[in-house]
Amino acid sequence: MTSDIKKFRKTVFDHYKQHGRVLPWRENTNPYWVLISEVMLQQTQVPRGLVKFPEFIGVFPTVEALAAATTPEVLAAWQGLGYNRRALYLKRAAEIIVRAYAGVIPDDPAVLQQLPGIGPNTAASIATFAYNRSVPFIETNVRTVFLHHFFPGEDGVSDAQLMPLIAEAQDVKNPREWYWALMDYGTFLKKEFGNASRRSRHYTKQSKFEGSLRQLRGHILRLLLKQKRLTAEQILKLSPDRTQGDVETVLGQLFGENFIVKNCGLYSLTK
Ligand code: ADE
Repeated sequence: MTSDIKKFRKTVFDHYKQHGRVLPWRENTNPYWVLISEVMLQQTQVPRGLVKFPEFIGVFPTVEALAAATTPEVLAAWQGLGYNRRALYLKRAAEIIVRAYAGVIPDDPAVLQQLPGIGPNTAASIATFAYNRSVPFIETNVRTVFLHHFFPGEDGVSDAQLMPLIAEAQDVKNPREWYWALMDYGTFLKKEFGNASRRSRHYTKQSKFEGSLRQLRGHILRLLLKQKRLTAEQILKLSPDRTQGDVETVLGQLFGENFIVKNCGLYSLTK
């Protein structure tokens, strides 16, 4: 290990010793808790996760409970988190885990990656936090830290450039603590210096929510949660300032992803 990396590790761990966050999914690294929290935190910030995570776990305390739930129940518990596709994926992942893995969350990133909604980075983060395995991965806070320290002022840096450094800096004895420390340090750097991830080649801003199809998606799912069955015309009427085209597009998406079914012209949530 180069002295640069050694110094860097000390900086990150020193910050963690002073300012490391105590979070429910760190206090209890039960793999089910880790699975739920990692998927939740993909697009949701920690303060919001701190509110929603206990609620979700309260309703579905085990992977079996989640697998046995209906889609409307899972969507109801996911309300307020957005990107509700994740809720459906989590339920499907839970079904597979119960059916194919006897209810045990897999510890192999290659296997985790086969589950719906779990990409390579989330798979590695679950293996790291649930099983303390040393699997290098990139997520937004990790990216911020490595850009800040190793590519100051440089634009268009790719993950391929970061990965060798991330791999070299791994703490093979304490993989879990190392990533907790990296994430906390990344959050600190963002507050202190702004988001260095903007300089990443892979940076994409979350698109504007107001008036978006994403917003309409959440709205239609909420309508169907409340009213159970609606025609496309009724949905359009209940969606002020929306075009028929937008409503049709979103209904098509939700149908294609198996969120909703259509019977005799009436849309309802898949059970
Ligand atoms: N601790 C464990 N996983 C985390 C995550 N994805 N973001 C922030 N803190 C975490």
